[in-house]
Amino acid sequence: MATLITGASAGLGEGFARAVAAQGDDLILTARRIDRLEALAADLRAAHGVKVHVFAADLAHHAAPDHLVADIAAAGLTVDTLINNAGFGTRGVFAEAALETQTGQIDVNCRALVALTHALLPPMVARKSGAILNIASVAAFQPGPWMAVYYATKAFVLSFSEALHEEVKPSGVRVTALCPGPTRTEFAEVAGMGDSELFERFASAPDTVIRDGLSALKAGQAIKVSGLMNTLMADSIRFTPRVFARRIAGALQKARG
Ligand SMILES: NC(=O)c1ccc[n+]([C@@H]2O[C@H](COP(=O)([O-])OP(=O)(O)OC[C@H]3O[C@@H](n4cnc5c(N)ncnc54)[C@H](OP(=O)(O)O)[C@@H]3O)[C@@H](O)[C@H]2O)c1
Repeated sequence: MATLITGASAGLGEGFARAVAAQGDDLILTARRIDRLEALAADLRAAHGVKVHVFAADLAHHAAPDHLVADIAAAGLTVDTLINNAGFGTRGVFAEAALETQTGQIDVNCRALVALTHALLPPMVARKSGAILNIASVAAFQPGPWMAVYYATKAFVLSFSEALHEEVKPSGVRVTALCPGPTRTEFAEVAGMGDSELFERFASAPDTVIRDGLSALKAGQAIKVSGLMNTLMADSIRFTPRVFARRIAGALQKARG
C-alpha cells in the first residue's frame, strides 16, 4: 500500500511527501520534473527507510492519468491514499491570455484530478478503505476576476470533493477538500505574482497547510480551510452578497500585479 502524490516536485506536494514518509508510509511521486522527484525520493529513502517510486507525468495531457495508473499497476503497487495536489494558476486578463494556458489549468487542476480519482477510487471502495485529499483553495469560495479560470477550477474541485465525500462515506473511504490561502511555494511565481508584497505579507508556511490537510483527512472531514483568517474569510463569504465578494476578490488580484 502506498500514498500517491501528484505535483510532488515542489511546494505543498514535496511537503506532503516529506510528512507522509515521516509517518513510515511508502510513496508514489509524480510531476514533470523527474530530477527533482529522484532527488526527493533518495532523500526520503535514506531518512525514513520507506519505499519511494517515481513516475514522470505531464498531467496537462489527457492520456497522462491513464498511463500513470498503468505504470503504477505494472510496478505491482496499490494506492491506498491519493493526494491530488498538482495544480497551477495564471493571473491576467482572460481575453488577452493564451487559450492553452487557460485550458491547461482545467486539464491539470480538474481533468487529471477527476481521471485519477475515477481510476483509483473503485478499488478503495471495494476494499472499504482508502483516502483522497484534493487540494482546492480559498479561491473556491468566490469568483476571481483576473484569475478567472483558476478560481473556477478550484470551485470545481471543492464541489466535486464534497459530493464524493457523501457518495463514498458509507463505504469507509474518506474524501477531503483542503483549502489553503496564499502559501509560500513556487505557486505565486508560476502564476506571475512572485514579487507581490500582498502575497508575501499574507502567505502561510507550507508546513501548517500540510499538517492541516493530513489531520483533516485522517479525521474524515469533508472540507478543511487552513488558517484562522482564511477560515473566517471563507465563512463570511457565505453572508456577503456575490457582487461584493467578486469585486473584493478582483481588487485583491489586481493589486497583486
Ligand atoms: N501556494 C498557494 O498559495 C496555494 C493556495 C491555494 C491552493 N494551492 C494549490 O496547492 C497545490 C500545490 O501548489 P503549490 O502551491 O505547491 O505550487 P508549486 O510549488 O508551484 O507546485 C506545483 C506542483 O504541481 C506540479 N505541476 C504543475 N503543472 C503540472 C503538470 N502539467 N503536470 C504534472 N504536474 C504539474 C508541479 O510539478 P512540475 O512543474 O515538476 O510538473 C509542482 O510539483 C495546487 O493545486 C495549487 O492550486 C496553492
